[in-house]
Amino acid sequence: MKKIIIWAAAALGILSGCASGSGSASKDAKMDRFIDNLMGKMTLEQKIGQLNLHSASGFVSALRVTEEDENVKLLRAGKLGGIYGSGNVEYLRDIQKIAMESGAGIPLITGMDVIHGYQTVFPVPLALSTSWNPEMVEKTARIAAKEASASGINWVFSPMVDICRDARWGRIVEGGGEDPFLGGELAKAYVYGYQGRDGVYDNTDVMTCVKHYALYGGAEAGRDYNSVFLSRQEALNGYLRPYQQAAYAGAASYMSSFNEFEGIPATMNTYLMDELLRKAWGFDGFIVSDATAVLEEVAHGIGDLQEVSARSLQAGLDMDMNSDGFVGTLEKSLQEGRISKADIDRACRRILEAKYKLGLFDDPYKYLDPERAAKDVYTPEHRAFAREAARECLVLLKNDGVLPLRKGTRVAVVGPLAKNGEAMAGSWSMSSHNAESVSLFQGISEVTPATYAEGSWLFKDKDLEESILYGMIKYFAPNYPIPELHTVPQQKLVADAVAKARQADVVIACVGEVANMNGEGASRTDISMPDAQLELLKALKATGKPVVMVLVTGRPLTLNWEAENMDAILNVWSPGSEGGHAVADVLFGDYAPSAKLTTTFPRAVGQLPLYYNHKSTGRPHPDYEPYRKFTSCYIDELNGPLYPFGFGLSYTTFEYSPVTLSAAEMPLSGSVTASVTVTNTGSRDADEIVQLYIHDIYATSTRPVKELKGFKKVHIAAGQSVKVDFTLTAEELSYYNHDCNWVCEPGDFEIMAGPDSERLQKAVLTVK
Ligand code: NOJ
Repeated sequence: MKKIIIWAAAALGILSGCASGSGSASKDAKMDRFIDNLMGKMTLEQKIGQLNLHSASGFVSALRVTEEDENVKLLRAGKLGGIYGSGNVEYLRDIQKIAMESGAGIPLITGMDVIHGYQTVFPVPLALSTSWNPEMVEKTARIAAKEASASGINWVFSPMVDICRDARWGRIVEGGGEDPFLGGELAKAYVYGYQGRDGVYDNTDVMTCVKHYALYGGAEAGRDYNSVFLSRQEALNGYLRPYQQAAYAGAASYMSSFNEFEGIPATMNTYLMDELLRKAWGFDGFIVSDATAVLEEVAHGIGDLQEVSARSLQAGLDMDMNSDGFVGTLEKSLQEGRISKADIDRACRRILEAKYKLGLFDDPYKYLDPERAAKDVYTPEHRAFAREAARECLVLLKNDGVLPLRKGTRVAVVGPLAKNGEAMAGSWSMSSHNAESVSLFQGISEVTPATYAEGSWLFKDKDLEESILYGMIKYFAPNYPIPELHTVPQQKLVADAVAKARQADVVIACVGEVANMNGEGASRTDISMPDAQLELLKALKATGKPVVMVLVTGRPLTLNWEAENMDAILNVWSPGSEGGHAVADVLFGDYAPSAKLTTTFPRAVGQLPLYYNHKSTGRPHPDYEPYRKFTSCYIDELNGPLYPFGFGLSYTTFEYSPVTLSAAEMPLSGSVTASVTVTNTGSRDADEIVQLYIHDIYATSTRPVKELKGFKKVHIAAGQSVKVDFTLTAEELSYYNHDCNWVCEPGDFEIMAGPDSERLQKAVLTVK
């Protein structure tokens, strides 16, 4: 029998019972007195009103408040606790004034989907994660907070920390990739960036809303909103850490997710919301549902709106976004004895506490300063940082030596994404400056002679292209006149691009996904290059000119042909407001690429879900060996990825020494240092992301073949070496065992370090 140490019982997720008390008394006696006093004066209806969140009428475009506005009517009746979706200070001032004059005179919280920057847009979150630089990510969130708070917003629906192993899911773009350790580090960085690190909100700090709680990224078959079937143990080990780390960093609120877990929708899941988040992780803020998620529990087959609203409240949900389930049915449920007054008071108190902590009771107009709105947003400094950040998020996947390009090289910049500013901004960017984001063509043509050709349609199927480009508009504005697509024949577009290519020294092909091809409600079953664009790439290849493929995407794609045939591939994701400049910085060598993948790139969609930290089967099959009967593999494809987790090239090369350990044995209460020396063996200075993985060779439950447990980004001058140290304790070697206890089991562990999840040096550590 192995000796096992079990860490803090509270962190185990095995607590029983569905505690739903009013939560522990807060540490702020003054706040408690203030809220006691306020709640003493509130009617039941006003208390329930605090639990209601609506989108601003006209959503983002809301311009002015009128008495016909549905939200104004609700406010006048004391039935609204917050609104979201407007960044218009005048509108928000007007509506805040009405809130203060109505009912119990309680200020509104004002939310917004600020996901990767506000008016200044940073790379999409998946791209930001490839920087492996939490400090930089924190700074992007700080700038976003500054801009959002200057625009009347005091609550951002970010960070999105859903782990995802399946590139079919469009929302993979919104998160930090497939690894829970890296995801946890990034989650903390976002929380610190938005809320500040001192625990006090000044008027540039905003509340975070960690989403989507929980496990939304485990959607079956990568189809959005789909069910999640994970064991509790796998959820704890593989998915939940980022949500947990955000709670530890002091996140103010969480958003419950659309999916079910263990047969119960997350929005009424007592285990997730109460046992784990509140009791085990100590979260003391409020939980809001995702938009209409309460109502959607009816479609999940749980009950009518009254039933699901009551159950959600009792499970720990505090605020209902857009379902009108709480505001519409809780009073009746109380009368019928279905819920108690304490259930309502508890949720109401949590919302009031958030408003108190934000300082809204002292000054409801704290975030509504028109002067700040005019000067603190989309500033040259913020844009300069967007360029700096974006450079760290461009993953060089292939380079036959064509990159970096010499300035002065005559380039043909071709492809449907070459001049597309919106594609630079990417999914979930609410910026009114999206279209003016620096395009790839603009950035490149500022540094070298460049010609342009559109090159191709997006897809050969016109209806498909139309539904992708205009699906959202059609949903919100069915009568919007949709422009005619494919007016220029594909053959002509390709021929023009080929003509430009022939006159150039190098071709830069800008292809991939437009913003609407990823994000919410944008799952794909085929994640290869869209057909029309692949046709363009093949025609460019046939010219014999060197082709650099600049890949714009929000998800990993299957790029087998491209990997074989393109001379270089730079994956730029959606790089944000200054995308074109940042890409040019890398293409022309002003910055050596340093980003590394945080999601596995598969060879075939049929491999999905594909992730580096998988388990071993009883019949393991080497990743890069062909089919062999009766082993765990495919007849028609290798097991291994096209590009593994952690992979990314630079303009220099790095060599890794073997891993050394400060001791070969470690007592459970001790620590060891694992070290590796990295040498820059090329001719230019560059950053390298050094990665540390572990493998528990024998454990009481099966363990992944490797797990990331540390990373460091180091700058190494050409010809120089840097020794990189990682401290290991029982904490890094622990996992949730079959009983969901957080344990470190003594025995042998492989300790591995290297430049990505495949090229690793190993040492063995014995834990006693
Ligand atoms: C639905 C999305 O799932 C969520 O991420 C977003 O914050 C809300 N809508 C509000 O827009």
